[in-house]
Amino acid sequence: MSEEPTDRTAALPTIGLDGPIDPATDGVSFHTRKWVKPEDLNANGTLFGGSLLRWIDEQAAIYAIIQLGNHRSVTKLISEINFVSSAEQGDMIEMGLKATHFGRTSLTMRAEVRNMITRQVILTIEKIVFVSLGPDGKPVPHGYTDITYHRDRLPVQNRS
Ligand SMILES: CC(C)(COP(=O)(O)OP(=O)(O)OC[C@H]1O[C@@H](n2cnc3c(N)ncnc32)[C@H](O)[C@@H]1OP(=O)(O)O)[C@@H](O)C(=O)NCCC(=O)NCCS
Repeated sequence: MSEEPTDRTAALPTIGLDGPIDPATDGVSFHTRKWVKPEDLNANGTLFGGSLLRWIDEQAAIYAIIQLGNHRSVTKLISEINFVSSAEQGDMIEMGLKATHFGRTSLTMRAEVRNMITRQVILTIEKIVFVSLGPDGKPVPHGYTDITYHRDRLPVQNRS
């Protein structure tokens, strides 16, 4: 006996995922997508929070390196995380980041993760702080005050 498939998207609020993200209106200036696979699930069969946090931290690191022009950019703080909905195997999720404050040695970002299938927000993180370090592992001024939308600050250390 086959079960009727349930429509998880029915009666859910739309959060504007139908078109391309516009940084001016979306509040996000950097985004990436992931496909939820079996190895990303918890015992409940839904997306494991630890997998999601690993992806967010990695994306935040890439974004911080692009913004601060320093590959020695490390996670200093992640504020409260409220998982408000989840994802299932086969769902596609979208992670968005935006720089909200350039400090002297730090960069503060805001993160939002959305389920592209159910159109629900999975979580938001108001503050992710990265700090730019020097070769001695101590905070070093990055000298930037605003967001770049280009690749003009990419560090050159890893170029052969
Ligand atoms: C990053 C690290 C060098 C910072 O050391 P620190 O003694 O806090 O340095 P400072 O006090 O000079 O602060 C550096 C910057 O972080 C900010 N900062 C420090 N503590 C903070 C906090 N709790 N919340 C938000 N920002 C904070 C400071 O305001 C400062 O930013 P600014 O220069 O833009 O004003 C040190 O904490 C460290 O090595 N942490 C481990 C980092 C790491 O390995 N992360 C990977 C996960 S394990």
